[in-house]
Amino acid sequence: MWSKKDLIGLKGLTKDEINIILDTAQSFTSILTREIKKVPTLRGITVANLFFEPSTRTRSSFELAEKRLSADTLGISAAASSVVKGETLLDTVKNLKALLCDIIVLRHAFAGAPELIAKAVPDVGVINAGDGMHEHPTQALLDMLTMRQMFGRIEGLKVLIVGDIFHSRVARSNIYGLKKFNAQVSVCGMYSLLPKGIDSLCRVYVDLDEAIEKEKPDVLMALRIQKERQEDGLFASLREYYRAYGIDQKRSSRLAKSSIIMHPGPINRGVELALDTADSDRSAILVQVTNGVAVRMAVLYLISSILRKGQEK
Ligand code: CP
Repeated sequence: MWSKKDLIGLKGLTKDEINIILDTAQSFTSILTREIKKVPTLRGITVANLFFEPSTRTRSSFELAEKRLSADTLGISAAASSVVKGETLLDTVKNLKALLCDIIVLRHAFAGAPELIAKAVPDVGVINAGDGMHEHPTQALLDMLTMRQMFGRIEGLKVLIVGDIFHSRVARSNIYGLKKFNAQVSVCGMYSLLPKGIDSLCRVYVDLDEAIEKEKPDVLMALRIQKERQEDGLFASLREYYRAYGIDQKRSSRLAKSSIIMHPGPINRGVELALDTADSDRSAILVQVTNGVAVRMAVLYLISSILRKGQEK
């Protein structure tokens, strides 16, 4: 049974809880292919989307998920809010509570910000839409839903995550989530982009060709080079990065026929992926994006059911 009013990360969820979200999301996919893509499930619930870092996919899919479920929604970005006048995150959130918002979706550069506000406003639901270098739970959930749809299972899948592991909240959430399903997770990146202690969580490679050869991955997941979080000197140039870690036709051709390529977006074409890799038959990248709406509908629905139970008491 689902019992949480917040979604902070996959580290804190059980396999059963992740399965509840994925099953609920799968059932919501049928709403998204109907002529009228709307149900009244979240009527009366108000959701504030606080995006203090840029976003296209996560923000749009949360907003669409809320609209598909008939919630009332607010969209707030740091640049157009009183944050620019010096208001703190906590004061912003307390004001949203005073405006009777039920759920806050938060993207923030500070790792730990969603947990902080979940404690500060205990009767408001909080969903982490990506916090610094910590977690991006709904991204990993939509990745896992995509894998489950494509392979019929997550258990035992071989998933190789390539690129900037150090800065990646997507990698962390995927590793936490996939390992609960006994997926065989490995990572590959240059030493400067691998976090300390990662070898205690999964197998580690610095050579992508060796990693593909040894792991024979079902899923090759490329990560974005996060230019906004790079300190100087972590690697020499984007051209050097592409040569060592870019997924091109030659590397794709070494994968099994059934293997897929994933990427959370936004893609830097010609850096993480060759110019045409994202458009190839192996690419599941736009399926991931589509699944983002169903996953976020599921999370909003499950959290609102707990909030409604609390209001009934
Ligand atoms: N995958 C992802 O978080 O994309 P956005 O930054 O566009 O939301």
